[in-house]
Amino acid sequence: MRRATITLQPKDDAPHIPADLYGHFAEHLGHCIYEGLWVGEDSKIPNTKGIRNDVVKALKELNLPVLRWPGGCFADEYHWKDGVGPRDKRPSIYNTHWGGVVENNHFGTHEFFELCEQIGCEAYVCGNVGSGSVQEMSQWVEYMTSPAKSPMADWRRQNGREEPWKLKYFGVGNESWGCGGEMRPEYYADEYRRYQTFVRNYGQRITKIACGPNTADYNWTEVMMSRATRFMDGLALHYYTILDQKWPPSGSATQFGEKEYRSTMHAALHMDELITKHSAIMDKHDPDKRVALMVDEWGTWHPVEPGTNPGFLFQQNTVRDALVAAVTFDIFHRHVDRVKMGNIAQMINVLQAMVLTDGPRMLRTPTYWAFHLYKGHHGAQFVPLTVKAEESNGEGHTLPSVSATASRTAKGWTVSASCLEPKECVTVSVSGLPVGVKVTSARVLTGPALQSHNTFDRPDLVKPKDLEVRFAGGELEFDLGPFAVASIELA
Ligand code: AHR
Repeated sequence: MRRATITLQPKDDAPHIPADLYGHFAEHLGHCIYEGLWVGEDSKIPNTKGIRNDVVKALKELNLPVLRWPGGCFADEYHWKDGVGPRDKRPSIYNTHWGGVVENNHFGTHEFFELCEQIGCEAYVCGNVGSGSVQEMSQWVEYMTSPAKSPMADWRRQNGREEPWKLKYFGVGNESWGCGGEMRPEYYADEYRRYQTFVRNYGQRITKIACGPNTADYNWTEVMMSRATRFMDGLALHYYTILDQKWPPSGSATQFGEKEYRSTMHAALHMDELITKHSAIMDKHDPDKRVALMVDEWGTWHPVEPGTNPGFLFQQNTVRDALVAAVTFDIFHRHVDRVKMGNIAQMINVLQAMVLTDGPRMLRTPTYWAFHLYKGHHGAQFVPLTVKAEESNGEGHTLPSVSATASRTAKGWTVSASCLEPKECVTVSVSGLPVGVKVTSARVLTGPALQSHNTFDRPDLVKPKDLEVRFAGGELEFDLGPFAVASIELA
């Protein structure tokens, strides 16, 4: 049995972990919105105002803090006026990015805010810079947030919503370096400055987010920060975990061996280097860290499930994906002075999803459970720590055998630890907890195999179970099996 030692080093001035690091992303892509969320008021699937009850219930249980919508690449082709007013009068469009399917615009602005209200989360809307005008973007913000008597606010009222909605975040374009317009950073910096000018604050302060770099495009960050820092509140980083870090995605979501496992975890851990290097550039231009780095798309991107539409990005989700989520949270926590939001891609039926649906059936994925295990960290104060553990070597990739994080609130402590070792167990001991503290909950997520996943016939194969913990010589101690994520709450 391997051993790992976690030493907590609480600091009174350590930053808090914004709940928004545990944010989500829902795009008009495949069955994320349609069927995954929106079934319509006449559906036999139980729904409230057209939105599936089972999915909302599952998402509420995650204390889901914030939701980004309508894309993604779709955002830069989305014309919001198509998606308001009586549904039978809304025009259908062709979803050119994602599967070439007909988009009937039945899920639009009102439905999105209804969804946020049902979940109880903040709204993050991404505007269209690539193919939309400044006026269109500006009017959308007016429609959503103006309390005044003005043309767009009156139209919103006419469409059934008297009060403005609360809009916490607004993204000025998506991936403007790619599907959002293939722009150079110098050009986008100017476009960003122009568009954001007309994202007006109608009595509420909207956090404005600029399109940031793709993965390791440090030049993008440099140009944006040198030309537009004072006009933005956040800069969005996109990074996907892809086998061997090579595009297009290869391998399989469920059929993989130790080599692919190690390569995937190695790719996930690369997030640390990306954040470190982008943050260093931001520090140069913004030493007070006013502008946040928002990782508003992240997660695993595997080839689609065989037999499914390649444009729908539908993939299964195994214990490996849960481990990717856990190490990503641990990394976010370490950079919480600069990173203020994360949005996993995507919430339902697309990429590294929380839930999968099949007609009336729904299942929670291992990634869902990783989010669930980390709920104790939302809003808590980060507790710096060190981990001493042997490295895990094999198949050309060295991984830490244990990744961990901790936080505290006035009510208690949360310690999370993952065993990344694919074959061996590890005994973990945690020092630095206050004397007399008691365990209130200890749960572990693992499966019979790394490839284990939930199916509609076995929806609960991978699900957290109680973890046995003990105090030995004043230290918290527990045994973790291979490929396991654990969270222990203490008070
Ligand atoms: O999440 C899928 C796609 O990945 C998004 O639409 C785009 O922003 C990114 O390239």
